[in-house]
Amino acid sequence: MKILVLNGPNLNMLGIREPDIYGKDTYDDLVALIRKHCESSGIEVQFKQSNSEGTLVDYIQQAFFDKVDGIVINPGAYTHTSVALLDALKAVQIPAVEVHISKVDEREPFRQISYVSYYAQKTITGKGFQGYLEAVDFLKEYTA
Ligand code: DQA
Repeated sequence: MKILVLNGPNLNMLGIREPDIYGKDTYDDLVALIRKHCESSGIEVQFKQSNSEGTLVDYIQQAFFDKVDGIVINPGAYTHTSVALLDALKAVQIPAVEVHISKVDEREPFRQISYVSYYAQKTITGKGFQGYLEAVDFLKEYTA
């Protein structure tokens, strides 16, 4: 099984950005955590991060040609604005889990809409980095 973990804008700033909301661990810590989890489950995993909407669309399209079985996606702020990311996921038809580190449902009104949720098979919020591991486990079961 092959999984893509895709992170959107400002998630490369984990550990620096608003640590009271996103924690003190870095993006590299997140990658290491997920990599270890996937290794122990025999899952092949690739990681991509971009601050640009179009590049994220390109990465989702590339997942189709790379024959990726599942996508874990934290679209960052593009969650709340991007029809393009939704359309890309709909185009490739790869099972996807949407992850948010923070409790988005308890935050500002502009964070209460998620376009990606219209496609995602599951959404996990407010569980910190652990949410990504749950997403991997869900995809493993879902695609079995
Ligand atoms: C986020 C929540 C978004 O609202 C925010 O723009 C982010 C991170 C999260 O992981 O909690 O960049 O997706």
